[in-house]
Order: sequence, then structure tokens, then C-alpha cells
Amino acid sequence: MFDEKDKTIVFIGSDHAGYEAKAALKPFIESLGFAVTDLGAFDANPIDYPDVAREVSEKVIEHAAENAKGILICGTGIGMSMAANRLKGVRAVLATDENLAYMSRQHNDANVLTMGARTTNVDVMKKITEKFLTTPFENAERHVRRVEKMDEIANASTNEGASC
Ligand code: RB5
Repeated sequence: MFDEKDKTIVFIGSDHAGYEAKAALKPFIESLGFAVTDLGAFDANPIDYPDVAREVSEKVIEHAAENAKGILICGTGIGMSMAANRLKGVRAVLATDENLAYMSRQHNDANVLTMGARTTNVDVMKKITEKFLTTPFENAERHVRRVEKMDEIANASTNEGASC
């Protein structure tokens, strides 16, 4: 029986658009038995999603040995996923249904889940979140190899000369 929650720390964050959904999700995640650390937003005043994505992602990396996970909510989940995936070691998935959350854990060892409060209702978010937090990485050689190749891309990328 899979029982990863004993060793999983969950860091959660949102911008203003995801603030209410985060407030609803936090006690739900705790009710599943996980320890949740809320890194804001702490009110509905406008804030920049990259700031929160960075803070949550840095915690996930810092606590990688403890199997930490991150959950980030903005209006669409798009900005949070883009920002989180800039950090080496972060594998963020923007999930809009349970199957995406499931596959991202099984095949991609995703460690950050992003969702959109303006695109996904809270009841669906709860289902996605539970699937994400309770699905193990399959750990097959082919999946490990492919995940490691993502890190190789990050290590090789210098962006020298890029105009972006
Ligand atoms: C904020 O209005 C919105 O742009 C943000 O929450 C997010 O959806 C960005 O990806």
C-alpha cells in the first residue's frame, strides 16, 4: 500500500488569483495527513506569481531528500508552471485533470503541481492534488533515464547570446 504522506512535506503558494483556492486546499491537504507549509499569498492583494513560484520551488529543492512537493496556484497555472520550471531540479506540471497529475508522477517524477483558479474549480483541484500527492514515481529505468536527461538539458543550457 502506497503511504508516502509520512515523509512528504508540502509547500503551497499562490498569487492573488489563487489565494481563495489555496485557502480551501490547505486544510484539505492536511486532512489527507500531509504537513503543509503555506508560503503565501496571505491576502488577496495583487502580487507577482514568479516571486511565489520561486519561493516554493526553492523549498522543494532544499527539501528534495525528504521527498518535498510544491503546489502553486495562479489564475491559469501557466505562469506558475513557467516560473517554477526555470529552477534546476524542479519538474512542474500544470494539471487540469487527475490523469495528468497521475502521469506526471508515474512517468516524470513531477515535484511541483500548478493549477489555475480561474480555469479549474476547487473540487476538481482537490482531486488533482490528492492524485498528485499519493501517486509514486514508477522508478523504471527508462523513466529515470528520461528524467535525468531533463537535468542534463538544464546543466548544459547557458543561454549565452539568447535575446529572450
Ligand atoms: C493574474 O492576473 C494572472 O495573470 C496570474 O494569476 C496567472 O494566471 C498567470 O499565469
